[in-house]
Amino acid sequence: MLPRREFLRQSTAAAGVTLFSKKFASPLFAPPASADSRIEIILDEPLGSISPNIYGHFAENLSGVIYDGIWVGENSKVPNINGIRKDLVDHMRTINPSVVRFPGGCFADSYNWRDGIGPRDKRPRRTNFWASEESPSSPAAHKYDPNQFGTNEFAQFCKLIGSQPYLAANLRSLPAESFYHWVEYCNSPAGSTTLADARAAAGFPDPFNVTFWGVGNESWGCGGNFTAQEYAVEFRRYATWVPRYGEDLAFIASGPSDFSWDWTRGFLEEIARKGTDQIRSIYGLALHYYTWNLSRGRTKDWDAGKGDALKFDPVDWYELLREGQVMDSIIQGHWQVMSEFDHDHHIKLVIDEWGPWYRPGSEQTPGDILEQTPTLRDAVFSAMTLDIFHQHPEKIAMANCAQLINCLNSLYLAHEGNFCITPVGHVFDMYSAHQGAQSLRTIFSTPDIHYDRDGKPATFQGLKGSASLSDKDLVLTVVNPHISEPREAEISIRSAAIQSATATVLTHTDIRAHNSFAQKNALHPESKELSLKGRNPTYTFAPASVTKLSIRLA
Ligand code: AHR
Repeated sequence: MLPRREFLRQSTAAAGVTLFSKKFASPLFAPPASADSRIEIILDEPLGSISPNIYGHFAENLSGVIYDGIWVGENSKVPNINGIRKDLVDHMRTINPSVVRFPGGCFADSYNWRDGIGPRDKRPRRTNFWASEESPSSPAAHKYDPNQFGTNEFAQFCKLIGSQPYLAANLRSLPAESFYHWVEYCNSPAGSTTLADARAAAGFPDPFNVTFWGVGNESWGCGGNFTAQEYAVEFRRYATWVPRYGEDLAFIASGPSDFSWDWTRGFLEEIARKGTDQIRSIYGLALHYYTWNLSRGRTKDWDAGKGDALKFDPVDWYELLREGQVMDSIIQGHWQVMSEFDHDHHIKLVIDEWGPWYRPGSEQTPGDILEQTPTLRDAVFSAMTLDIFHQHPEKIAMANCAQLINCLNSLYLAHEGNFCITPVGHVFDMYSAHQGAQSLRTIFSTPDIHYDRDGKPATFQGLKGSASLSDKDLVLTVVNPHISEPREAEISIRSAAIQSATATVLTHTDIRAHNSFAQKNALHPESKELSLKGRNPTYTFAPASVTKLSIRLA
Protein backbone atom coordinates (compact mmCIF):
# COMPACT_ATOMS: atom_id res chain seq x y z
CA MET A 1 0.00 0.00 0.00
CA LEU A 2 1.37 3.42 -0.92
CA PRO A 3 1.36 6.01 1.83
CA ARG A 4 -1.38 8.63 1.43
CA ARG A 5 1.04 11.49 0.80
CA GLU A 6 2.64 9.56 -2.06
CA PHE A 7 -0.78 8.96 -3.56
CA LEU A 8 -1.60 12.64 -3.42
CA ARG A 9 1.61 13.47 -5.20
CA GLN A 10 0.97 10.91 -7.94
CA SER A 11 -2.64 11.90 -8.44
CA THR A 12 -1.82 15.58 -8.82
CA ALA A 13 0.71 14.86 -11.53
CA ALA A 14 -1.45 12.33 -13.35
CA ALA A 15 -4.46 14.61 -13.48
CA GLY A 16 -2.38 17.16 -15.34
CA VAL A 17 -2.67 19.60 -12.48
CA THR A 18 0.23 21.87 -11.60
CA LEU A 19 0.40 23.48 -8.20
CA PHE A 20 2.73 26.31 -7.43
CA SER A 21 2.84 29.13 -5.01
CA LYS A 22 3.59 32.62 -6.35
CA LYS A 23 7.17 32.23 -5.23
CA PHE A 24 7.80 29.18 -7.44
CA ALA A 25 5.78 30.16 -10.51
CA SER A 26 7.36 28.87 -13.70
CA PRO A 27 8.02 31.65 -16.25
CA LEU A 28 6.49 29.37 -18.89
CA PHE A 29 3.14 29.59 -17.17
CA ALA A 30 3.54 33.10 -15.76
CA PRO A 31 0.14 34.78 -15.99
CA PRO A 32 -0.25 38.42 -17.06
CA ALA A 33 0.32 41.07 -14.40
CA SER A 34 -3.35 41.43 -13.52
CA ALA A 35 -3.99 37.71 -12.94
CA ASP A 36 -2.12 35.43 -10.59
CA SER A 37 -3.52 32.21 -12.03
CA ARG A 38 -3.71 30.49 -15.34
CA ILE A 39 -5.99 27.79 -16.72
CA GLU A 40 -4.69 26.15 -19.84
CA ILE A 41 -7.16 24.07 -21.82
CA ILE A 42 -5.46 21.80 -24.30
CA LEU A 43 -7.99 21.19 -27.05
CA ASP A 44 -5.99 18.56 -28.87
CA GLU A 45 -5.44 16.36 -25.82
CA PRO A 46 -8.78 14.68 -25.16
CA LEU A 47 -8.73 12.32 -22.19
CA GLY A 48 -11.84 10.42 -23.28
CA SER A 49 -15.58 10.77 -23.39
CA ILE A 50 -17.34 11.66 -20.10
CA SER A 51 -19.91 8.93 -19.52
CA PRO A 52 -23.34 10.53 -18.92
CA ASN A 53 -23.73 7.82 -16.27
CA ILE A 54 -21.22 9.67 -14.08
CA TYR A 55 -24.25 11.89 -13.43
CA GLY A 56 -26.16 9.04 -11.81
CA HIS A 57 -28.30 8.99 -8.69
CA PHE A 58 -29.03 6.71 -5.78
CA ALA A 59 -32.48 6.19 -4.21
CA GLU A 60 -32.47 3.74 -1.31
CA ASN A 61 -35.54 2.63 0.61
CA LEU A 62 -34.25 4.45 3.66
CA SER A 63 -36.00 7.01 5.78
CA GLY A 64 -37.68 9.70 3.64
CA VAL A 65 -35.99 8.91 0.31
CA ILE A 66 -38.68 6.74 -1.26
CA TYR A 67 -41.73 7.39 0.94
CA ASP A 68 -42.36 11.15 1.16
CA GLY A 69 -39.42 11.92 -1.13
CA ILE A 70 -40.25 10.13 -4.40
CA TRP A 71 -43.52 8.36 -3.63
CA VAL A 72 -46.46 10.30 -2.23
CA GLY A 73 -49.20 7.95 -3.47
CA GLU A 74 -51.89 8.44 -6.07
CA ASN A 75 -54.42 9.77 -3.54
CA SER A 76 -52.07 12.34 -2.04
CA LYS A 77 -52.85 16.08 -2.05
CA VAL A 78 -49.24 16.56 -3.13
CA PRO A 79 -49.23 16.95 -6.93
CA ASN A 80 -48.15 13.59 -8.34
CA ILE A 81 -47.93 11.52 -11.50
CA ASN A 82 -49.32 8.08 -10.70
CA GLY A 83 -48.15 8.48 -7.11
CA ILE A 84 -44.73 9.94 -7.92
CA ARG A 85 -43.97 13.48 -6.68
CA LYS A 86 -44.50 15.81 -9.65
CA ASP A 87 -42.08 18.55 -8.54
CA LEU A 88 -39.31 15.97 -8.42
CA VAL A 89 -40.10 14.65 -11.87
CA ASP A 90 -40.26 18.16 -13.32
CA HIS A 91 -36.90 19.17 -11.88
CA MET A 92 -35.12 15.94 -12.69
CA ARG A 93 -36.17 16.21 -16.30
CA THR A 94 -34.08 19.38 -16.57
CA ILE A 95 -30.81 17.80 -15.39
CA ASN A 96 -30.67 14.79 -17.71
CA PRO A 97 -30.47 12.14 -14.98
CA SER A 98 -28.77 9.24 -16.71
CA VAL A 99 -29.24 6.40 -14.25
CA VAL A 100 -30.84 5.76 -10.83
CA ARG A 101 -29.77 3.00 -8.42
CA PHE A 102 -32.48 1.30 -6.31
CA PRO A 103 -33.42 -0.11 -3.74
CA GLY A 104 -30.12 0.14 -1.79
CA GLY A 105 -27.57 0.35 -0.30
CA CYS A 106 -27.77 -1.91 2.70
CA PHE A 107 -31.54 -2.15 2.23
CA ALA A 108 -31.01 -4.14 -0.97
CA ASP A 109 -29.66 -7.20 0.84
CA SER A 110 -32.81 -7.53 2.96
CA TYR A 111 -35.30 -6.84 0.14
CA ASN A 112 -37.47 -9.35 -1.64
CA TRP A 113 -38.51 -7.81 -4.93
CA ARG A 114 -41.59 -10.07 -5.01
CA ASP A 115 -43.03 -8.08 -2.07
CA GLY A 116 -43.14 -5.00 -4.29
CA ILE A 117 -45.10 -6.29 -7.30
CA GLY A 118 -48.78 -7.09 -7.84
CA PRO A 119 -51.80 -5.10 -6.63
CA ARG A 120 -50.67 -2.49 -4.10
CA ASP A 121 -53.36 -3.26 -1.56
CA LYS A 122 -52.21 -6.88 -1.41
CA ARG A 123 -48.51 -6.18 -0.87
CA PRO A 124 -47.01 -7.27 2.46
CA ARG A 125 -45.68 -4.81 5.05
CA ARG A 126 -42.16 -5.58 6.23
CA THR A 127 -39.66 -4.24 8.70
CA ASN A 128 -37.23 -1.93 6.93
CA PHE A 129 -33.52 -2.79 7.15
CA TRP A 130 -32.97 0.61 8.78
CA ALA A 131 -35.75 0.28 11.39
CA SER A 132 -33.37 -0.01 14.33
CA GLU A 133 -31.68 3.26 13.34
CA GLU A 134 -34.94 5.18 13.31
CA SER A 135 -35.80 7.48 16.19
CA PRO A 136 -39.15 7.26 18.00
CA SER A 137 -40.33 10.35 16.09
CA SER A 138 -39.73 8.65 12.78
CA PRO A 139 -42.82 8.12 10.64
CA ALA A 140 -44.03 4.51 10.72
CA ALA A 141 -43.81 4.25 6.94
CA HIS A 142 -40.05 4.59 7.27
CA LYS A 143 -39.65 1.87 9.87
CA TYR A 144 -42.12 -0.49 8.30
CA ASP A 145 -41.98 -0.88 4.58
CA PRO A 146 -45.44 -0.67 2.99
CA ASN A 147 -44.03 -1.93 -0.34
CA GLN A 148 -46.12 0.56 -2.30
CA PHE A 149 -43.07 1.55 -4.34
CA GLY A 150 -41.59 -1.53 -5.97
CA THR A 151 -40.10 -2.54 -9.31
CA ASN A 152 -43.04 -1.30 -11.41
CA GLU A 153 -43.16 2.10 -9.73
CA PHE A 154 -39.38 2.47 -9.92
CA ALA A 155 -39.38 1.60 -13.63
CA GLN A 156 -42.12 4.15 -14.15
CA PHE A 157 -40.18 6.80 -12.22
CA CYS A 158 -37.13 6.16 -14.41
CA LYS A 159 -39.23 6.42 -17.54
CA LEU A 160 -40.78 9.70 -16.39
CA ILE A 161 -37.43 11.33 -15.75
CA GLY A 162 -35.69 9.76 -18.78
CA SER A 163 -33.27 7.68 -16.77
CA GLN A 164 -31.97 4.11 -16.89
CA PRO A 165 -32.73 1.82 -13.93
CA TYR A 166 -29.90 0.20 -11.98
CA LEU A 167 -31.18 -2.52 -9.65
CA ALA A 168 -29.18 -3.89 -6.73
CA ALA A 169 -29.91 -7.56 -6.06
CA ASN A 170 -30.10 -9.26 -2.68
CA LEU A 171 -27.15 -11.61 -2.31
CA ARG A 172 -27.16 -11.90 1.47
CA SER A 173 -30.63 -13.27 2.11
CA LEU A 174 -32.08 -14.55 -1.18
CA PRO A 175 -30.90 -17.39 -3.43
CA ALA A 176 -29.45 -16.88 -6.92
CA GLU A 177 -32.75 -18.18 -8.33
CA SER A 178 -34.52 -15.10 -7.02
CA PHE A 179 -32.03 -12.91 -8.86
CA TYR A 180 -32.70 -14.84 -12.11
CA HIS A 181 -36.40 -14.37 -11.59
CA TRP A 182 -36.07 -10.63 -10.99
CA VAL A 183 -34.21 -10.36 -14.30
CA GLU A 184 -36.96 -12.48 -15.85
CA TYR A 185 -39.68 -10.26 -14.38
CA CYS A 186 -38.00 -7.12 -15.71
CA ASN A 187 -36.71 -8.25 -19.06
CA SER A 188 -38.56 -11.28 -20.48
CA PRO A 189 -40.59 -10.35 -23.57
CA ALA A 190 -44.34 -9.76 -23.37
CA GLY A 191 -46.27 -13.04 -23.19
CA SER A 192 -43.13 -15.18 -22.87
CA THR A 193 -43.10 -16.18 -19.18
CA THR A 194 -45.41 -16.28 -16.19
CA LEU A 195 -43.46 -13.37 -14.71
CA ALA A 196 -43.86 -11.38 -17.95
CA ASP A 197 -47.61 -12.00 -17.60
CA ALA A 198 -47.48 -10.76 -13.98
CA ARG A 199 -45.75 -7.60 -15.22
CA ALA A 200 -48.37 -7.17 -17.95
CA ALA A 201 -51.16 -7.64 -15.41
CA ALA A 202 -49.72 -4.68 -13.50
CA GLY A 203 -49.97 -2.59 -16.68
CA PHE A 204 -46.48 -3.09 -18.10
CA PRO A 205 -46.58 -5.57 -21.01
CA ASP A 206 -43.31 -4.29 -22.47
CA PRO A 207 -40.10 -5.37 -20.74
CA PHE A 208 -38.29 -2.80 -18.61
CA ASN A 209 -34.98 -3.78 -20.30
CA VAL A 210 -32.87 -3.28 -17.20
CA THR A 211 -29.18 -3.37 -18.16
CA PHE A 212 -27.44 -2.53 -14.87
CA TRP A 213 -27.53 -5.11 -12.08
CA GLY A 214 -25.66 -4.82 -8.82
CA VAL A 215 -24.78 -8.23 -7.41
CA GLY A 216 -25.11 -7.38 -3.72
CA ASN A 217 -24.01 -4.21 -1.94
CA GLU A 218 -21.11 -3.65 0.46
CA SER A 219 -20.72 -7.43 0.70
CA TRP A 220 -17.78 -6.87 3.06
CA GLY A 221 -20.26 -5.42 5.59
CA CYS A 222 -24.07 -5.13 5.67
CA GLY A 223 -24.32 -7.16 2.47
CA GLY A 224 -23.20 -10.45 4.01
CA ASN A 225 -20.00 -9.80 5.95
CA PHE A 226 -18.01 -11.85 3.41
CA THR A 227 -14.30 -11.97 2.85
CA ALA A 228 -13.30 -10.81 -0.63
CA GLN A 229 -12.66 -14.43 -1.61
CA GLU A 230 -16.00 -15.67 -0.29
CA TYR A 231 -17.81 -12.88 -2.10
CA ALA A 232 -16.01 -13.67 -5.37
CA VAL A 233 -17.33 -17.25 -5.20
CA GLU A 234 -20.85 -15.92 -4.58
CA PHE A 235 -20.53 -13.37 -7.37
CA ARG A 236 -19.56 -16.09 -9.87
CA ARG A 237 -22.54 -18.19 -8.81
CA TYR A 238 -25.05 -15.33 -9.06
CA ALA A 239 -23.73 -13.94 -12.33
CA THR A 240 -23.49 -17.23 -14.22
CA TRP A 241 -26.07 -18.07 -16.87
CA VAL A 242 -28.48 -15.29 -16.03
CA PRO A 243 -31.13 -15.04 -18.79
CA ARG A 244 -30.29 -12.25 -21.22
CA TYR A 245 -33.29 -11.78 -23.59
CA GLY A 246 -30.96 -10.03 -26.03
CA GLU A 247 -30.03 -7.46 -23.40
CA ASP A 248 -26.34 -6.89 -22.73
CA LEU A 249 -26.53 -7.23 -18.94
CA ALA A 250 -23.95 -5.20 -17.02
CA PHE A 251 -23.07 -6.89 -13.71
CA ILE A 252 -21.64 -4.63 -11.06
CA ALA A 253 -19.70 -6.36 -8.32
CA SER A 254 -19.69 -5.11 -4.77
CA GLY A 255 -16.35 -3.39 -4.53
CA PRO A 256 -14.21 -1.69 -1.93
CA SER A 257 -14.74 1.20 0.39
CA ASP A 258 -12.15 3.98 0.59
CA PHE A 259 -8.60 2.64 0.57
CA SER A 260 -9.45 -1.09 0.88
CA TRP A 261 -7.01 -2.27 -1.73
CA ASP A 262 -7.15 -5.73 -0.15
CA TRP A 263 -10.80 -6.13 -1.10
CA THR A 264 -10.17 -5.21 -4.74
CA ARG A 265 -7.11 -7.46 -4.93
CA GLY A 266 -8.68 -10.39 -3.04
CA PHE A 267 -11.88 -10.28 -5.09
CA LEU A 268 -10.19 -10.12 -8.49
CA GLU A 269 -7.57 -12.70 -7.55
CA GLU A 270 -10.31 -15.20 -6.65
CA ILE A 271 -12.37 -14.36 -9.76
CA ALA A 272 -9.34 -14.84 -12.00
CA ARG A 273 -8.28 -18.07 -10.25
CA LYS A 274 -11.01 -19.82 -12.22
CA GLY A 275 -9.57 -18.42 -15.46
CA THR A 276 -8.83 -14.91 -16.60
CA ASP A 277 -11.86 -14.98 -18.93
CA GLN A 278 -14.01 -14.79 -15.77
CA ILE A 279 -12.98 -11.15 -15.53
CA ARG A 280 -15.02 -10.47 -18.64
CA SER A 281 -18.26 -11.31 -16.85
CA ILE A 282 -17.86 -8.17 -14.74
CA TYR A 283 -18.90 -4.77 -16.09
CA GLY A 284 -18.02 -2.68 -13.08
CA LEU A 285 -16.54 -2.72 -9.63
CA ALA A 286 -18.57 -0.63 -7.19
CA LEU A 287 -16.50 1.77 -5.11
CA HIS A 288 -17.92 3.68 -2.14
CA TYR A 289 -16.31 6.74 -0.64
CA TYR A 290 -18.05 8.94 1.90
CA THR A 291 -16.35 12.05 3.26
CA TRP A 292 -17.15 12.00 6.94
CA ASN A 293 -14.08 12.55 9.09
CA LEU A 294 -13.79 16.26 9.88
CA SER A 295 -11.95 15.72 13.17
CA ARG A 296 -8.74 17.19 11.69
CA GLY A 297 -6.84 14.03 12.50
CA ARG A 298 -8.06 13.70 16.10
CA THR A 299 -10.02 10.44 15.73
CA LYS A 300 -10.97 7.70 13.31
CA ASP A 301 -14.19 6.92 15.16
CA TRP A 302 -17.18 6.86 12.78
CA ASP A 303 -19.45 8.86 15.12
CA ALA A 304 -16.97 11.10 16.90
CA GLY A 305 -15.21 12.09 13.66
CA LYS A 306 -18.24 13.54 11.93
CA GLY A 307 -18.86 17.28 11.61
CA ASP A 308 -22.01 19.35 11.44
CA ALA A 309 -23.73 20.07 8.13
CA LEU A 310 -24.71 23.64 9.02
CA LYS A 311 -22.58 24.77 11.94
CA PHE A 312 -19.03 24.90 10.68
CA ASP A 313 -16.09 27.29 10.59
CA PRO A 314 -13.70 28.11 7.73
CA VAL A 315 -11.28 25.34 8.73
CA ASP A 316 -14.16 22.82 8.58
CA TRP A 317 -14.89 24.13 5.09
CA TYR A 318 -11.35 23.37 3.91
CA GLU A 319 -11.27 20.11 5.86
CA LEU A 320 -14.24 18.74 3.95
CA LEU A 321 -12.65 19.68 0.64
CA ARG A 322 -9.29 18.16 1.66
CA GLU A 323 -11.00 14.90 2.61
CA GLY A 324 -13.02 15.07 -0.61
CA GLN A 325 -10.08 15.48 -2.93
CA VAL A 326 -8.78 12.16 -1.66
CA MET A 327 -11.31 10.66 -4.11
CA ASP A 328 -8.71 11.19 -6.82
CA SER A 329 -6.10 9.00 -5.17
CA ILE A 330 -8.69 6.35 -4.29
CA ILE A 331 -9.69 6.10 -7.95
CA GLN A 332 -6.09 5.84 -9.08
CA GLY A 333 -5.15 3.35 -6.37
CA HIS A 334 -7.94 0.89 -7.12
CA TRP A 335 -7.38 1.26 -10.85
CA GLN A 336 -3.76 0.30 -10.35
CA VAL A 337 -4.72 -2.80 -8.33
CA MET A 338 -7.32 -3.75 -10.96
CA SER A 339 -4.63 -3.63 -13.65
CA GLU A 340 -2.79 -6.50 -11.89
CA PHE A 341 -5.59 -8.86 -12.96
CA ASP A 342 -7.37 -7.04 -15.76
CA HIS A 343 -4.56 -5.87 -18.01
CA ASP A 344 -6.73 -4.29 -20.70
CA HIS A 345 -9.08 -2.77 -18.10
CA HIS A 346 -12.28 -4.47 -19.18
CA ILE A 347 -13.75 -3.73 -15.73
CA LYS A 348 -14.56 -0.10 -15.00
CA LEU A 349 -15.13 1.68 -11.73
CA VAL A 350 -18.72 2.34 -10.69
CA ILE A 351 -18.61 4.85 -7.83
CA ASP A 352 -22.17 4.18 -6.79
CA GLU A 353 -22.05 5.93 -3.42
CA TRP A 354 -20.24 9.22 -2.83
CA GLY A 355 -20.79 12.42 -0.88
CA PRO A 356 -20.31 14.03 2.54
CA TRP A 357 -21.83 12.37 5.61
CA TYR A 358 -22.44 14.61 8.65
CA ARG A 359 -23.72 13.88 12.12
CA PRO A 360 -27.49 14.12 12.70
CA GLY A 361 -29.06 17.47 13.51
CA SER A 362 -29.68 19.38 10.27
CA GLU A 363 -32.74 17.41 9.09
CA GLN A 364 -35.43 19.54 7.44
CA THR A 365 -37.88 16.84 8.48
CA PRO A 366 -37.32 15.75 12.09
CA GLY A 367 -37.15 11.98 12.36
CA ASP A 368 -35.67 11.41 8.89
CA ILE A 369 -32.46 9.52 9.59
CA LEU A 370 -29.40 10.35 7.47
CA GLU A 371 -31.11 13.48 6.18
CA GLN A 372 -28.88 16.55 6.15
CA THR A 373 -29.15 20.05 4.75
CA PRO A 374 -26.56 20.69 2.03
CA THR A 375 -24.89 24.11 2.00
CA LEU A 376 -22.63 26.05 -0.35
CA ARG A 377 -19.78 23.92 1.06
CA ASP A 378 -21.46 20.79 -0.31
CA ALA A 379 -21.99 22.46 -3.67
CA VAL A 380 -18.25 23.25 -3.95
CA PHE A 381 -17.45 19.72 -2.73
CA SER A 382 -19.79 18.10 -5.28
CA ALA A 383 -18.51 20.22 -8.13
CA MET A 384 -14.93 19.37 -7.20
CA THR A 385 -15.83 15.66 -7.10
CA LEU A 386 -17.49 15.75 -10.52
CA ASP A 387 -14.42 17.57 -11.87
CA ILE A 388 -12.25 14.75 -10.48
CA PHE A 389 -14.46 12.19 -12.25
CA HIS A 390 -14.00 14.06 -15.53
CA GLN A 391 -10.25 13.63 -15.22
CA HIS A 392 -10.65 9.83 -15.31
CA PRO A 393 -13.09 9.18 -18.15
CA GLU A 394 -11.42 5.91 -19.11
CA LYS A 395 -11.74 4.54 -15.58
CA ILE A 396 -15.21 5.57 -14.42
CA ALA A 397 -18.26 4.13 -16.16
CA MET A 398 -20.81 5.34 -13.63
CA ALA A 399 -21.14 7.31 -10.41
CA ASN A 400 -24.17 7.75 -8.16
CA CYS A 401 -24.40 10.61 -5.70
CA ALA A 402 -25.63 9.42 -2.29
CA GLN A 403 -28.50 10.13 -2.23
CA LEU A 404 -31.13 11.73 -4.47
CA ILE A 405 -33.59 13.21 -1.98
CA ASN A 406 -33.91 13.60 1.80
CA CYS A 407 -30.67 11.75 2.50
CA LEU A 408 -26.97 12.71 2.78
CA ASN A 409 -25.80 14.77 -0.23
CA SER A 410 -29.35 15.28 -1.54
CA LEU A 411 -30.16 17.17 -4.70
CA TYR A 412 -33.65 17.77 -3.33
CA LEU A 413 -35.43 18.01 0.02
CA ALA A 414 -39.14 17.27 0.34
CA HIS A 415 -41.73 16.70 3.01
CA GLU A 416 -45.44 16.45 2.29
CA GLY A 417 -46.26 19.60 0.25
CA ASN A 418 -42.78 21.13 0.66
CA PHE A 419 -40.05 20.78 -1.91
CA CYS A 420 -36.77 22.57 -2.57
CA ILE A 421 -33.64 22.21 -4.69
CA THR A 422 -30.42 22.07 -2.69
CA PRO A 423 -27.13 23.70 -3.77
CA VAL A 424 -26.02 20.19 -4.82
CA GLY A 425 -29.03 19.97 -7.12
CA HIS A 426 -27.96 23.26 -8.70
CA VAL A 427 -24.46 21.88 -9.32
CA PHE A 428 -25.88 18.83 -11.11
CA ASP A 429 -27.91 21.21 -13.26
CA MET A 430 -24.89 23.38 -14.09
CA TYR A 431 -22.57 20.43 -14.75
CA SER A 432 -24.95 18.36 -16.90
CA ALA A 433 -23.45 20.18 -19.91
CA HIS A 434 -20.36 17.96 -19.56
CA GLN A 435 -22.27 14.73 -20.20
CA GLY A 436 -21.02 12.82 -23.22
CA ALA A 437 -18.44 15.49 -24.10
CA GLN A 438 -14.71 14.89 -24.54
CA SER A 439 -12.82 15.59 -21.36
CA LEU A 440 -9.78 17.76 -22.10
CA ARG A 441 -6.46 17.97 -20.37
CA THR A 442 -6.61 21.18 -18.37
CA ILE A 443 -3.76 22.64 -16.38
CA PHE A 444 -4.51 24.82 -13.37
CA SER A 445 -1.60 26.98 -12.26
CA THR A 446 -2.63 28.92 -9.22
CA PRO A 447 -1.32 30.05 -5.85
CA ASP A 448 -2.24 27.80 -2.95
CA ILE A 449 -4.64 28.89 -0.24
CA HIS A 450 -2.88 29.11 3.13
CA TYR A 451 -4.74 28.76 6.39
CA ASP A 452 -4.23 27.86 10.00
CA ARG A 453 -5.29 24.29 10.82
CA ASP A 454 -5.36 24.10 14.61
CA GLY A 455 -2.09 25.98 15.00
CA LYS A 456 -0.36 24.31 12.05
CA PRO A 457 -0.01 25.85 8.59
CA ALA A 458 -2.11 24.13 5.93
CA THR A 459 -2.64 24.66 2.21
CA PHE A 460 -5.28 23.87 -0.36
CA GLN A 461 -5.19 24.30 -4.10
CA GLY A 462 -6.31 27.77 -5.24
CA LEU A 463 -8.54 26.79 -8.16
CA LYS A 464 -9.72 23.37 -9.31
CA GLY A 465 -11.85 22.23 -12.22
CA SER A 466 -12.19 20.51 -15.57
CA ALA A 467 -13.03 21.22 -19.19
CA SER A 468 -14.83 19.32 -21.92
CA LEU A 469 -15.58 19.83 -25.58
CA SER A 470 -18.56 18.83 -27.66
CA ASP A 471 -18.31 20.03 -31.25
CA LYS A 472 -17.58 23.76 -30.79
CA ASP A 473 -19.05 23.98 -27.30
CA LEU A 474 -16.41 24.19 -24.63
CA VAL A 475 -17.44 23.87 -20.99
CA LEU A 476 -15.04 24.92 -18.25
CA THR A 477 -16.13 24.31 -14.67
CA VAL A 478 -14.11 25.75 -11.83
CA VAL A 479 -14.35 25.92 -8.06
CA ASN A 480 -12.69 28.70 -6.12
CA PRO A 481 -12.41 27.16 -2.65
CA HIS A 482 -11.08 30.34 -1.00
CA ILE A 483 -13.72 31.46 1.47
CA SER A 484 -13.13 35.19 0.97
CA GLU A 485 -10.76 35.99 -1.90
CA PRO A 486 -11.66 36.18 -5.57
CA ARG A 487 -9.12 34.68 -7.95
CA GLU A 488 -8.37 36.18 -11.35
CA ALA A 489 -7.18 33.67 -13.93
CA GLU A 490 -5.98 33.87 -17.48
CA ILE A 491 -7.79 31.31 -19.60
CA SER A 492 -5.69 29.98 -22.40
CA ILE A 493 -7.32 28.00 -25.17
CA ARG A 494 -4.51 27.36 -27.59
CA SER A 495 -5.36 27.42 -31.29
CA ALA A 496 -8.95 28.56 -30.91
CA ALA A 497 -10.86 31.80 -30.84
CA ILE A 498 -13.91 32.51 -28.71
CA GLN A 499 -17.16 33.43 -30.42
CA SER A 500 -19.33 33.90 -27.33
CA ALA A 501 -19.34 32.96 -23.67
CA THR A 502 -21.68 32.77 -20.71
CA ALA A 503 -20.81 32.45 -17.03
CA THR A 504 -23.08 30.66 -14.58
CA VAL A 505 -22.06 31.18 -10.96
CA LEU A 506 -23.24 29.63 -7.72
CA THR A 507 -21.96 31.56 -4.71
CA HIS A 508 -22.98 33.48 -1.61
CA THR A 509 -21.36 35.77 0.93
CA ASP A 510 -22.23 33.24 3.66
CA ILE A 511 -20.34 29.95 3.29
CA ARG A 512 -23.13 28.23 5.24
CA ALA A 513 -25.84 29.43 2.85
CA HIS A 514 -28.41 26.76 2.04
CA ASN A 515 -31.96 26.34 0.85
CA SER A 516 -34.77 25.21 3.09
CA PHE A 517 -38.54 24.86 2.93
CA ALA A 518 -38.78 28.37 4.40
CA GLN A 519 -36.18 29.85 2.04
CA LYS A 520 -36.21 27.81 -1.13
CA ASN A 521 -34.14 30.17 -3.19
CA ALA A 522 -31.50 31.48 -0.79
CA LEU A 523 -28.83 29.96 -2.99
CA HIS A 524 -29.23 29.66 -6.75
CA PRO A 525 -26.96 30.07 -9.76
CA GLU A 526 -26.93 33.23 -11.83
CA SER A 527 -25.93 33.49 -15.48
CA LYS A 528 -24.60 36.36 -17.53
CA GLU A 529 -23.08 36.79 -20.97
CA LEU A 530 -19.41 37.64 -21.07
CA SER A 531 -17.28 39.47 -23.57
CA LEU A 532 -14.12 37.41 -23.33
CA LYS A 533 -11.63 39.18 -25.58
CA GLY A 534 -8.61 37.76 -27.38
CA ARG A 535 -7.06 34.31 -27.14
CA ASN A 536 -6.11 34.50 -23.48
CA PRO A 537 -8.90 36.37 -21.72
CA THR A 538 -9.06 36.70 -17.97
CA TYR A 539 -11.94 35.85 -15.68
CA THR A 540 -12.35 36.54 -11.97
CA PHE A 541 -13.71 33.62 -10.01
CA ALA A 542 -15.78 34.72 -7.00
CA PRO A 543 -14.75 33.46 -3.56
CA ALA A 544 -16.42 30.26 -2.34
CA SER A 545 -17.95 29.61 -5.72
CA VAL A 546 -18.76 27.11 -8.43
CA THR A 547 -18.52 28.58 -11.93
CA LYS A 548 -19.40 27.21 -15.32
CA LEU A 549 -18.06 29.01 -18.37
CA SER A 550 -19.94 27.93 -21.49
CA ILE A 551 -17.78 28.97 -24.41
CA ARG A 552 -18.73 28.76 -28.07
CA LEU A 553 -15.59 28.47 -30.18
CA ALA A 554 -15.41 30.21 -33.54
O1 AHR B 1 -26.11 5.55 1.81
C1 AHR B 1 -26.32 5.02 3.08
C2 AHR B 1 -25.62 3.68 3.27
O2 AHR B 1 -24.24 3.86 3.21
C3 AHR B 1 -25.89 2.61 2.25
O3 AHR B 1 -27.06 1.91 2.51
C4 AHR B 1 -24.70 1.72 2.37
O4 AHR B 1 -24.41 1.04 1.17
C5 AHR B 1 -23.60 2.66 2.81
O5 AHR B 1 -22.88 2.15 3.85
